Amino acid sequence: MQNVTVTKARDSFTTGLGVIAATLGSAVGLGNIWKFPALTGLNGGAAFIIVYLLSTLMAGLVVMVAELMLGRRSKSDALTTFKVLHPKNESWALIGAAGVLSAFLILAFYTEVAGWVFAYIFKAASGAVLSSDPKVTSAGFEKLITDPVQSVFWQCLVLVFVGAIIVAGVSKGIEKTTKRLMPVLFLILVMIGVRSLMLPGAAAGLEFLFRPDFSKVTGGVVLTAMGLAFFKLSVGMGTMITYGSYFRDDQNVPMTALRVMLADLTVSILAGIAIFPAVFTYGFKPEAGPSLLFITIPAVFSQMPFGNIFVVLFFVLGAIAATGAMLSILEVPVAYLHQRFGMSRLKSTALTVILLALIGSTAALSNSTMANFKFFGMTMFDFYDFLTSNVLMPVGGLFICIFVGWVWGEEKVRAALSNDGQLQNGPIISIFLFLVKYVAPITITVILLRGLKII
Ligand code: PFF
Repeated sequence: MQNVTVTKARDSFTTGLGVIAATLGSAVGLGNIWKFPALTGLNGGAAFIIVYLLSTLMAGLVVMVAELMLGRRSKSDALTTFKVLHPKNESWALIGAAGVLSAFLILAFYTEVAGWVFAYIFKAASGAVLSSDPKVTSAGFEKLITDPVQSVFWQCLVLVFVGAIIVAGVSKGIEKTTKRLMPVLFLILVMIGVRSLMLPGAAAGLEFLFRPDFSKVTGGVVLTAMGLAFFKLSVGMGTMITYGSYFRDDQNVPMTALRVMLADLTVSILAGIAIFPAVFTYGFKPEAGPSLLFITIPAVFSQMPFGNIFVVLFFVLGAIAATGAMLSILEVPVAYLHQRFGMSRLKSTALTVILLALIGSTAALSNSTMANFKFFGMTMFDFYDFLTSNVLMPVGGLFICIFVGWVWGEEKVRAALSNDGQLQNGPIISIFLFLVKYVAPITITVILLRGLKII
């Protein structure tokens, strides 16, 4: 355990509600309102949702329980956790190191999309991006993303905003903020959902969302669904290890993970209910992909009564969701620097934010200055997205499962998940052990190899 600095009084979440708010705040994000509806629209509606659900149950949720458990046991950051729990072989800490790398790559593109969402709150409020003509809304969006100055400006603004909350600390920053914001998010989402269901195209929208078309489901689509399952639950890269390290010792880890997963799924479905009836009512295509949020939504909402208010609310909702998620990603490197090198939170956050502004600008400029700079045929923005969701997070999840199921050992898992015998949850732990040893690793490996066309 040499080289491991364990700080004295560690800041942590203070209440059970705070734990749920922060963890759910991490899960709920742009994934629910930007990725989930777009990917569902592109890949066969309910058929995609079914594959996504299966990946969540067989892999995502399993990795979530594993990560939270490891973090709570080690009370350490994502990298140090493996050194503390398995000092004999330090190579396992590579999982944490890959996690820190993923955190940077995700934030590089995530803060950019979040920047667009923040910008759209103001643009929608001033009416600048509202029009019933998608050509006009499309031109408005193009103008924003192809302007290098605006793109970098909004991204940096978001970074400074999230960094300021992180500097305030785990309980006073992350917990306090998410506890306040999560109820507001639910309220806005339900309001928009109800409004959308009152539209004449509601039935067609719901039918699209709930009637499966399996003809669209290919190996690549299954990998995308599994990638979404990891991305949605923020697992496979140490975020949940880091948050688990702030959990109280009496917290029921499997139940917390299950609750968060169900609440997150509810938010995704509600987002679908808010979006698709409106899309069908006004004759738009559900397959608009990532542009759904920025081109279709303003066009759709501008046509309904009081739409201008709802569209502003929609982007406020997006900003809230993105904030909780970004806090958790940023916390991964910040916690590491803080614990490993004894840096103050201010210093470790400042360093991370500056580095991120540099890496992030390559994503921010993907639609302008660096549009022709391609990696594996993708812009940097798309490459970071693909690499993290479809490769790094599933691979990270796979190794976490192997570590927990085959290296750390059954006895330690039983002790950790039962809170050292305080909880009578033996059968649940047995199911978890079966999933983490066999089901999740096999599922992840097969989907990865098929999806990347290796087999
Ligand atoms: N779960 C977040 C979302 O769905 O938007 C994204 C995310 C957060 C990914 C935290 C990874 C992470 F560590």
